[in-house]
Formats: sequence, structure tokens, C-alpha cells
Amino acid sequence: MPRPISATVHTTALANNLSVVRRCAPHSKVWSVVKANAYGHGLARAFPGLRETDGFGLIDLDEAVRLREYGWAGPILLLEGFFKPADLELVDRYSLTTAVHCDEQLRMIETARLGKPLNIQLKMNSGMNRLGYLPQRYRAAWERARACSGIGQITLMTHFSDADGERGIAHQLDAFEQGAEGIAGARSLSNSAAVLWHPQAHFDWVRPGIMLYGASPSGDSAALQGRGLQATMTLRSELIGVQQLNAGETIGYGSVFAADTPLRIGVVACGYADGYPRLSPTGTPVLVDGVRTRTVGRVSMDMITVDLTPCPQAGIGAPVELWGPSLPIDEVAQASGTVGYELMCAVTQRVPMRAD
Ligand SMILES: Cc1ncc(COP(=O)(O)O)c(C=O)c1O
Repeated sequence: MPRPISATVHTTALANNLSVVRRCAPHSKVWSVVKANAYGHGLARAFPGLRETDGFGLIDLDEAVRLREYGWAGPILLLEGFFKPADLELVDRYSLTTAVHCDEQLRMIETARLGKPLNIQLKMNSGMNRLGYLPQRYRAAWERARACSGIGQITLMTHFSDADGERGIAHQLDAFEQGAEGIAGARSLSNSAAVLWHPQAHFDWVRPGIMLYGASPSGDSAALQGRGLQATMTLRSELIGVQQLNAGETIGYGSVFAADTPLRIGVVACGYADGYPRLSPTGTPVLVDGVRTRTVGRVSMDMITVDLTPCPQAGIGAPVELWGPSLPIDEVAQASGTVGYELMCAVTQRVPMRAD
């Protein structure tokens, strides 16, 4: 018998969330970001829900090749670009669009033998300070790219550091507009947070990731209210044990939780080896038999323990939702000091995952 834990990817929720992106940015084309194995959902499982997109953005060449194998003939964007001259052979063969963020990449394209010119997204560092040309160097890079016979279309690209936060995007948008002044070409700037909250930055292409998976870029599920986004992953399990604690008794490793009154405890088949965060403290929300309750004690490798006070009827075999449509992943992440991005990417191989 397999352990009762499993994950389900909701195909119609992915399609719904893509239509929410289109409602938010009605004049833009959409790069659906499916890096990191579609944010942990599995590229093959996510693809059918997102196939109405205009293009896919990802990081790994092998994921790009897999999309072609699934029959995707449209645009694919390598968000970080390529890394070695040998990568260009695959970029060319599979007609990938690539980000270009430095002179080393331009040099590799200039000296490559390509079957056809590559479409690129020339990346500006408008303030994130990870990848890209500084605004004052951008025009020179663009001119060099334009002069290169191995390069076809050039899209102007940057990435926001604070589109979900107080600082916002104005400083980066200004820097981008200065650096790109007078340069013709499509523009690609907005991640999910900018799609949701900064329509002035939508331009020709948007690049949403996390909102396609029904979670919030800011980590706060309340911020998404009224947007119509749906959870795209359910992580569920069952109670495999029940304990009755007397007042003063402790549970689990380190005895970090002690009952102050008699307490009925459920043991759930889910632990950090399944991807549930080990640092989730007592009080992290969880649904048992459809009733919201809390974890108690330390998360162990294969089990967590939960307070059954609000669901006295729940016994062994009772269903448990760790996150999903009835318990936003953002709430679990927030309680655990992280973001939904990390939780969905962290579900491990041993958890059977299927699409519905
Ligand atoms: C260049 C780029 N564009 C878009 C995205 C999508 O971001 P989000 O998942 O916050 O929408 C990412 C993800 O980090 C990215 O690196």
C-alpha cells in the first residue's frame, strides 16, 4: 500500500488563471512562466492547462526541448539565456528565443554557426542588479545586437525587484525608459506582481509565473481577493494515527509542544521529506475532515501532528488538506516564514502527483 499522501494539479484552474492574466493585461501577449518544472507542478501536467498562452518562459534547455516534444510549436523564451557556446546549437535547432544579458553571450552568438537568426530579449538591469546591461550601456548593446547577422528580432526586457512591495516599480520604469529611449522594439517587463498591480508596465509581453499557479507574489492571499485566481495544486493526505495527550504531555521531536489541557492529536502522513517545511511552527493551518485546525509540535521527516479539538469526529483515515482550494498555499507559507513559490517547488519526488 502506498502512503496516503498525494498531490493533484488542477488543469482547469491553470486555464482559468491564464484567462485572469489576459483580463488584467488585455493588450499584452503572455509568456507563461513554467520554469522549475512549472513551479513544481510538472511541466507535462501544467502544459495542457496553459496551452492557450502565447509563449512559455523557462530556464532549462531540457524543459524547452520537452515542450517541443509535447507538440508546442510557439515561442519559448530562455529567461536567463544560454550559458555555453554549445547551448546555441539547441537554441537554434528548437527555435528558442533567448535572453541576452551580457557581452559574453553576444560574443557567443557572433561567433556561432547558426541555421537562422535568433530572436533575443535584450535584458536591461534597471535596478534589480542581478542580470542585464545598465541603462547607460543599453543602447550600445542593442546596436551591437542589431549589427549581428545571427540575431533576428530584439525585444527589450527588464525585471522588477519590488513590483509586489512598497518600493514599487517607478524607479525601475524610469531607468528602463531612459535606457531604452528611442529604441524601437517590443517591450517585456512585467512579472505577476506587475501584471496585477502595475498596468502602466504591461507593454507588449507580460511574463507571469506565480499567479498562473493561483498564489500571490506578495505572499498575502488577501491581496488576490476578487481577482478570480484558483489554486492549481492540492496536497492531501490522511490521518494515520490518533493520540490522546494528558495535560503536560509533549509530542514529537524536541518536545517543543506541551499540551496545557487534555488534547486529542492526529498524526498525518506528510513530513519534510514530502516537501512540507520543517520550520512550520505550531499553529500552521491545516484542514482535517474539511475543518480548519493547526499543526502542533515539530514537523518530522514523514509525519506532522495536528490538533483534533475542532474535529472530534476525525479518526484514522480522515482526509487532510495541507494546501489547496480550501486552504491557500500562501497561508501555509506565511505561517512557515516563506512564500507559496517555495512550497509548490519543494514537493518531493516521492509524492505521487497527477493532473485532473
Ligand atoms: C525574468 C523573469 N520573468 C518573470 C518571472 C515570473 O515571476 P513571478 O512568478 O513572480 O510572476 C520570473 C520569475 O522569477 C523571472 O525570473
